[in-house]
Amino acid sequence: MKILTARLKLREWKEADKEPFFELNSDPRVMEFMPKLLSKEESDRLVERIQARFKEDGYSFWAVELIENETLIGLMGLSIPKFDSFFTPCVEIGWRLAYDYWGKGYATEGAKASLNYGFHELGLSEIVSFTVPQNIRSRRVMERIGMHYVGEFNHPLLPKTHPLEKHVLYKIN
Ligand SMILES: CC(C)(COP(=O)(O)OP(=O)(O)OC[C@H]1O[C@@H](n2cnc3c(N)ncnc32)[C@H](O)[C@@H]1OP(=O)(O)O)[C@@H](O)C(=O)NCCC(=O)NCCS
Repeated sequence: MKILTARLKLREWKEADKEPFFELNSDPRVMEFMPKLLSKEESDRLVERIQARFKEDGYSFWAVELIENETLIGLMGLSIPKFDSFFTPCVEIGWRLAYDYWGKGYATEGAKASLNYGFHELGLSEIVSFTVPQNIRSRRVMERIGMHYVGEFNHPLLPKTHPLEKHVLYKIN
């Protein structure tokens, strides 16, 4: 299963993705709003957890490849959050791109295709997204793809008083 857009291929993960994925997961610019940079082992385990989700749920975050040169530029797509909150169970849309590929509209392009897949192939009626309030670039992607601001919540997997605990929630029906 893969999704093609004008410039991107969203597909399942390969062993060869692990090295370029680690590069972006260890880049402080990309990980500014994440709890920590990932080590190679943590980054590889994330790929393996995503691969397990494809088996369990039938979908998860796809590897994002540039069609023109087959470069792995990040992660994007739909996933079922495994924590409890007032809006779960639900399906989230998310994205993480290598810094060199920001500012080109790739996140918005892939996100629109992911929403289309969620609503028309998976038959979902609602998709959510969340990030920390200060992650303006991510919030702009949410707004560009037509998502609406719902409100704030405290991420249950982060300790109380953690600087990234407060999140903003968006959704689209
Ligand atoms: C969130 C993230 C994916 C957004 O990336 P982005 O490049 O800002 O978003 P897009 O790919 O949609 O690109 C939009 C920008 O490209 C520009 N652009 C250039 N060519 C374009 C095109 N052909 N089509 C659309 N936009 C284009 C837009 O004008 C916009 O520019 P602006 O930032 O100056 O307003 C990126 O910042 C990232 O990976 N962050 C780290 C991970 C992260 O925080 N993820 C979310 C955690 S919840």
